[in-house]
Formats: sequence, C-alpha cells, structure tokens
Amino acid sequence: MKFLILNGPNLNLLGQREPGVYGTDSYDALCQLAQKHAQENNAQADCFQSNYEGALIDAIHGAGGVYDAIIFNPGALTHYSYALHDALTSVQVPCVEVHISNVHKREEFRRRSVTAPACVGQICGLGFQGYLLAMDYFLRA
Ligand code: DQA
Repeated sequence: MKFLILNGPNLNLLGQREPGVYGTDSYDALCQLAQKHAQENNAQADCFQSNYEGALIDAIHGAGGVYDAIIFNPGALTHYSYALHDALTSVQVPCVEVHISNVHKREEFRRRSVTAPACVGQICGLGFQGYLLAMDYFLRA
C-alpha cells in the first residue's frame, strides 16, 4: 500500500510552533515515524508539506492512480478551504483527516472542518499517533 502523508500550512514548524499544543517533535521526525510505520507494515509513505493551498490541491490531484490513500492534516485550511474539499471529492483516492491537537478543546473556529465531509473519517487529539492510526485503518480495511 502506498500512502501520501499530506500536511498543510505551518506544520513545517512542528517542534518550534506552540510546543504545548503540538509537541516538541519536528516535521522531519513525523515523516520518519510515518515512513518507519509504513515499512514495518510492508507499505510506503511519501510525505509532502506545503504552506500553499494550490500546492496541496495539486498534490491531491496528482495522487490519483499513484497512491492508495491520503492521510491529510490540512492545518487551518481545514476550517475554510472549500477548494480542498472539492479537490478531495475530485479524485478516487480515499482520505483520512488528521489533527495533532484536539480541535474540539480549543477555539470555537477549530471545531468546524469543511474538509472532513470529503474524507472517510477524522482523527484528532492523538498527536503524531493519529497519522499511524489512520494508516492502520487503511491497512486493515
Ligand atoms: C491542526 C489544527 C488546526 O486548527 C491548526 O490550524 C493547525 C494544526 C492540528 O494538527 O491540530 O495548523 O490541524
């Protein structure tokens, strides 16, 4: 199985950005963790991060026929990007949305996801483990 681990705006700053909320481990550490987990399960995980909505849309479009599943943390775009919603519904590749923090425990605006309805499901509040659990879902589905 081939996974695209897609991360949106500001997630490149993991480890430095609000460590009390997102932890002290870096974006590179997240990718290494995801790739190790994939390899241990005879799968492959490619990581891509962008601070640009269009680049994320292009990555989703490009996933068709290449990846079996997308594990996607759209960052703040989660809360307002109808373009990302539509990109996800435009391709045949299933997606699980992941949030490192528990978005329901935070500001009101974070409770709404416009991208989640285009996904199989959503995992939030479980830190980096959420990405691995999303992979496990697809590996067992
Ligand atoms: C986040 C939650 C979003 O509300 C926030 O804008 C992020 C990260 C998370 O992983 O918890 O950038 O998606």
